[in-house]
Amino acid sequence: MENAIEAINLTKYYDALLAVDHINFEVKKGEIFGFLGPNGAGKTTTIRMLTSLTKLGEGTARIFGHDIQSETIVAKKYMGIVPEISNIYDDLSAWDNLMFTGELYQVGKTEREKRAKELLEMFGLHGRRKEKTKGFSKGMKRRLTISMGLINNPQLLFLDEPTSGLDVQSALIIKDVVRELNQRGVTIFLTTHNIEEASVTCDRVAIINKGKIAAIDTPERLKKIIQGVQSLEVAFDEVSPRIMKELEKIPFVNEVRKEGDKFRLYTHDPSSALSNLWEYARSNNLKPTSLNTLGPSLEDVFVRLTEINVKTNRRKFNE
Ligand SMILES: Nc1ncnc2c1ncn2[C@@H]1O[C@H](COP(=O)(O)OP(=O)(O)OP(=O)(O)O)[C@@H](O)[C@H]1O
Ligand SMILES: [Mg+2]
Repeated sequence: MENAIEAINLTKYYDALLAVDHINFEVKKGEIFGFLGPNGAGKTTTIRMLTSLTKLGEGTARIFGHDIQSETIVAKKYMGIVPEISNIYDDLSAWDNLMFTGELYQVGKTEREKRAKELLEMFGLHGRRKEKTKGFSKGMKRRLTISMGLINNPQLLFLDEPTSGLDVQSALIIKDVVRELNQRGVTIFLTTHNIEEASVTCDRVAIINKGKIAAIDTPERLKKIIQGVQSLEVAFDEVSPRIMKELEKIPFVNEVRKEGDKFRLYTHDPSSALSNLWEYARSNNLKPTSLNTLGPSLEDVFVRLTEINVKTNRRKFNE
């Protein structure tokens, strides 16, 4: 199958800071590929290199087989870009913003007017097309930014944190559109720091932290790896240093961390740990004031994946 993106040893330095550290990955044509990582992981920098908005420090990137550095113009024809920070002109209407972007991408007048109408309808903005975007809500602005990224009918769409900071309703509209575009054959590369979003939206996910890729796999397989990092979060009506020591001894609890006035109990088996926790609380006359079961946080996932990598390397080293 043809690859929409090939990144080979992709690297970016900002002075001494290694923002993207020799990463390798492929995105297949037709895929929804997610880049999942915390703040500062190198997600935006990767997108900026792939879309030629910043120079590559080292390595190569190809878009549908075209080198982004030596065949920039051809490579850019394939792509639409939706940046993390909006590129809307506040003093222009939604319609004029789309016309302006269309011109930038050298989309002919008739074509860009037809596209703009379709996109405004698709994103529920057609009724507001003549208003200055100054008065648009955050969700409306995000939808317009995405429309602008689609004006040239791209085969590959880059979306940098498309749903972050949006309410559930706006995020759903965007997720639906992403899926619809993908069904029409558009390859999607999106970044997010939300595990749930990555796992429901993407065919494959790369987990990136501190400029390095820790794993690339399907959400299901990644979930299996991280199933061991579930936890219970509990607070009691009494705070005493002895509690921490005692919680560590509860069967099925692997590790305990104090987080503010709460304790976080890591476990492979939340239901068994929970019944033992109740038993402990009852026999010690402690009243839980709050209790939650939590899936793995992004931080947990990294710790777990890094542990696995260390173990694998150690094994390789000893062999
Ligand atoms: N123009 C720049 N000059 C200097 N350092 C930069 C620049 N852009 C990014 N960085 C640094 O590179 C690292 C990666 O940043 P990047 O914006 O790619 O992260 P990110 O994964 O997109 O984070 P976020 O989730 O916060 O958007 C960070 O340490 C950041 O401070
Ligand atoms: Mg970013």
